[in-house]
Amino acid sequence: MQLVNITINGKAFEHEVEPRLLLVHYIREKAQLTGTHVGCDTGNCGACTVVYNGKLIKSCLMLAVQADGSEILTIEGMSQQDPEKQKNGLHPIQDAFLEKFGFQCGYCTPGMVLNTHTLLKSNPNPSEHEIREALEGNLCMCTGYQQIIESIQYAAEKMKAGK
Ligand code: FES
Ligand code: FES
Repeated sequence: MQLVNITINGKAFEHEVEPRLLLVHYIREKAQLTGTHVGCDTGNCGACTVVYNGKLIKSCLMLAVQADGSEILTIEGMSQQDPEKQKNGLHPIQDAFLEKFGFQCGYCTPGMVLNTHTLLKSNPNPSEHEIREALEGNLCMCTGYQQIIESIQYAAEKMKAGK
């Protein structure tokens, strides 16, 4: 067993873990933040997407011990991002997905929202092509891609308008 300290959504977590424990399982089982989903467990679907030290990663491709000392943002932490733009407890990106029907079963949605958050931070005006490129690693099994793209375009508008 190995002691790891990971800050998730601004809160410090400390646990003894097996060296083989994947970060996604640490987040879900140790930190009990189940908004991060497990799809393929092989890095293909993006359901386990989180923001790790400011970068988008697939948390099934990293061991919890490798994340020792890191800062992670999960979907639960979106309620703390851009506090001046939150509406009814939702971040504008979440609100945009809701308004534009950017999800069906919702399994891929946490990863899609975190992907959008990271994209819009580096590129507040993404073209449709840039959005499609950014989404490459996040699969939607309900295949609602058109609505997802429209949600991201609307989220970009909302973020610029500050609402
Ligand atoms: S569960 Fe990590 S990419 Fe699919
Ligand atoms: S909404 Fe069902 S997997 Fe994307």
